[in-house]
Amino acid sequence: MSADEPESAATTESAGEESVAGRTEVWIEKYRPQTLAEIKGHENIVPRLVSYVEQNDLPNLMFSGPAGTGKTTAAQAVARELYDDDWRDNFLELNASDERGIDVVRDRIKNFARSSFGGYNYRIIFLDEADALTSDAQSALRRTMEQFSHNTRFILSCNYSSQIIDPIQSRCAVFRFTELSEAAIEAQVREIAETEDIEVTDDGVDALVYAAAGDMRKAINGLQAAAVMGETVDEEGVFAITATARPEEVEEMVEKAIAGDFTAARATLESLLTDRGLAGGDVIDQLHRSAWEFDLDDMATVRLLERLGEVEFRITEGANERLQLEAMLASLALEE
Ligand SMILES: Nc1ncnc2c1ncn2[C@@H]1O[C@H](COP(=O)(O)OP(=O)(O)OP(=O)(O)O)[C@@H](O)[C@H]1O
Ligand SMILES: [Mg+2]
Repeated sequence: MSADEPESAATTESAGEESVAGRTEVWIEKYRPQTLAEIKGHENIVPRLVSYVEQNDLPNLMFSGPAGTGKTTAAQAVARELYDDDWRDNFLELNASDERGIDVVRDRIKNFARSSFGGYNYRIIFLDEADALTSDAQSALRRTMEQFSHNTRFILSCNYSSQIIDPIQSRCAVFRFTELSEAAIEAQVREIAETEDIEVTDDGVDALVYAAAGDMRKAINGLQAAAVMGETVDEEGVFAITATARPEEVEEMVEKAIAGDFTAARATLESLLTDRGLAGGDVIDQLHRSAWEFDLDDMATVRLLERLGEVEFRITEGANERLQLEAMLASLALEE
């Protein structure tokens, strides 16, 4: 009886693996750059990282910037280049917002930094979401960084460097990852499409670039999702799959409001939120990105931006998205 068990378990497992490898490999991992040279964009960052590797002299680093721009990728690429096949043994990836708390994180840092290692002068600890640490926890981290400075290099990753205490910032070479350029995203999208033998129209590429808003992860996930049907990826498919409004739809909504037709503006908003599945924050984001391309006079654009800033802040503080967006449209409609 008990002899059956492991056998059937093994069968299930290998079947599962096969189907994963065969069908649903995630492209953001499959096409994650393995070397620094493969990273798209960041022309002011990559060469400096390359020179650290060449000199085998790594300072503590801080990578700040928006999601999906290559912070984790760059940290892993540094480790791959420094340690080759040993990189996984010499690179510890931790998340500072680990729900088990900063003490667990600190214990793991200490254990890793203390354990013996094979011939390298230092090992790397990559601490993701460092800005999730309270300033007390950051002070403790700073002491840990000092304690192990002889054999450990830290790479801290965060969205906002302003959330990191000065004593840590001053111990790190700070690299500001920016939203990736349209050219960088386009290049990667086309490269992947070619490798995967997928046809993408030019307006499909433009739509992916627009929907990504500088986030490579979003662009690649969008491409993979839109390519699922095995058909040509075009603008329509991309906007449908990525919960992104066409720039014209957002513009139309604002124009209706400014023309005083609140009801029509509200109906457009409603369809973006309900039919298209955009989150309130996405609408704000798209308005912000496109504001200067709308056919509005400068004063109207300025007022729109002023309102957007206010609404964005309120939503971040937990206000009702729909109400805030409607109120913004109402205030535009009320204006002379
Ligand atoms: N500059 C880049 N060049 C090529 N591919 C990239 C680049 N940046 C990101 N990618 C792709 O996007 C995926 C996600 O990137 P990564 O994990 O490095 O983002 P991140 O900056 O660490 O984001 P987060 O702040 O969410 O942790 C990668 O696996 C890779 O496929
Ligand atoms: Mg990351």
